[in-house]
Amino acid sequence: DHTHADTLRTPIVAVLGHVDHGKTSLLDTIRGSAVSEGEAGAITQHIGATDIPLDTISGMAGELIDPTDFDLPGLLFIDTPGHHSFSTLRARGGALADIAVLVVDVNDGFQPQTEEAIDILRRTGTPFVVAANKVDTTPGWNPQDGEPIQKSMDAQSERAKSMLDENLYEIIGQLSDAGFSADLYWRVQDFQKNIGVVPLSALTGEGVPDLLTVLMGLSQRFMKEEMAIDVTGPGEGTVLEVKDERGFGATVDTVVYDGVIRNGDTVVVGGQDEPIVTEIRALLRPRPLAEIRTEKEFEKVGEIGAAAGVKIAAPDLDRAMAGAPVRVVRDRTVDQVVEEVKAELAEIEVETADNGVVVKADTLGSLEAMANALREAEVPILRAEVGDIAPRDIAVAETANQDEHKAILGFNVDLLQNAESDLENADVKLFKNEVIYQLVEDYERYVEEKQR
Ligand code: GTP
Ligand code: MG
Repeated sequence: DHTHADTLRTPIVAVLGHVDHGKTSLLDTIRGSAVSEGEAGAITQHIGATDIPLDTISGMAGELIDPTDFDLPGLLFIDTPGHHSFSTLRARGGALADIAVLVVDVNDGFQPQTEEAIDILRRTGTPFVVAANKVDTTPGWNPQDGEPIQKSMDAQSERAKSMLDENLYEIIGQLSDAGFSADLYWRVQDFQKNIGVVPLSALTGEGVPDLLTVLMGLSQRFMKEEMAIDVTGPGEGTVLEVKDERGFGATVDTVVYDGVIRNGDTVVVGGQDEPIVTEIRALLRPRPLAEIRTEKEFEKVGEIGAAAGVKIAAPDLDRAMAGAPVRVVRDRTVDQVVEEVKAELAEIEVETADNGVVVKADTLGSLEAMANALREAEVPILRAEVGDIAPRDIAVAETANQDEHKAILGFNVDLLQNAESDLENADVKLFKNEVIYQLVEDYERYVEEKQR
C-alpha cells in the first residue's frame, strides 16, 4: 500500500468572524446536510477541523457543481471561536489557512472581530469570501431550506428582497472601506481582484450550496499548485491548542498541513522556553460524527496525512505553545529540525526595548498581532510572552522606569491565582481584553489620564 507522492492535498479553509455571527452554525449545517445526503460516513471529524470530501460537496451543491471540474479531494474547514484570534492559524510565517470564509451577520454588519479578521487576511494575503449570514432573519422571509440563493431570492417578496439588498450593500460598502473591492458573488468575474459576497443562512441552509461552489472554484483555480505536496514526507503542522487530557497529560491539538505524522515519530514542538523534542505516544481523533467541541472519546490512529487535525499525546508537551510549529524528524537529525523550529519562531518578531510594557497573549500569532498594534500606537514593549499572567510578569512590570510603563497588557489570557495577591500589592496596572485594538485603546486612555 503506497501513497503517491505529489498528490493534491485538501485545502484548509478557516471560518472566521465576529462572536455569534454564525461560524459554528455554518459548519454544523455543512456537516448536517452532508449527513442528510447519506454521506455521514464520508465526513471525517478532526480536532478543530471537519473534512468534507468532494463527493459530499457536490451532492450538497447539486446543479451548481460539476464534480468532474475538480481534482482537489475536498475541503478541510477549521472553526475559529470568536474570542480566539484567527492569528493563531499560522504556518511557516504565513497563514495556515489556504482560503478563508469571513462570516458576517447580515443585520449586524462589520464588528470589532470582523475588522480584526480583515486586518489579518490583508496582512497574510489570504484569499477569502464573505458569507453574509442569517438572511432568514430578514422580515417577511420565506425560507427555502438548503436551496441555492438565487432560487431562494426568487421566492421572496419585493419588500424582503429590497431589505436584504440594503443590508448586503452595507456590507459591500464596509468591505470597500476596508480596502477590498467586493460584489455579490455571481457578479464577480475575477475572484483574485474582487471579494465575492455569498448571502446565506446557516439556519435554513439556503445559500450554502453557493458557498461550497465558490470555495471549490477558488481553491481549484488559484491554489492547485500549492496543494501539490509530497504526502509521504515528514509531517509539518501548527499547534492550535495545548490541552490536558485525562490519561494522557498535556496534549497538543494540531493541524497538519504538509506530509504525514506517524505514531512513534520523534517530533520537535515549539515551546515557551526551548523547542521540545519528544516521541509521539498516541495520535488521537474524535470518533466519527461525534461533536468535536465536547468530544471525550478518541480513536487511536497509526498515522495521519495533510491536511488534517489531530490530537498528539507525547511526554513533555505542557510547555508547548499555541501557534508554534510541529515538525516530524524522520530521516533528518534532531538538531537540524530543532534549528528549523527555532528559525521559524524567530520569524515571529516581537521587538522589545529596555523600557516599556509587559505583553502576554494566548498564542504566538496573537502575540505578534499585539506587537504590531502596539508598534503602530508607539507603545514600547519590555517583554512579550505567550501564556497566562504569572507572578514573574508582575515583578518584571514593576521594574519599568516610567510609571506609565508599569503595566501588563493581556490578550485572551487569565491572571493566575498565585499572582492575584502580587498584583494587589504591586504598583502595576493590568489590562485584559479579547479584542486587540480595544486593549491598546484602554491602555492609551489610561496613559492620557495619567498625564493630565
Ligand atoms: P462564537 O464561536 O461564539 O464566536 O460564535 P459563532 O460565530 O460560532 O456563532 P454560532 O454559530 O454559535 O451562532 C450564534 C447564534 O446565532 C446561535 O444562537 C445561532 O443559532 C444563531 N445563528 C447562526 N446562524 C444563523 C442563521 O443563519 N439564522 C439565524 N436566524 N440564526 C443563526
Ligand atoms: Mg463558534
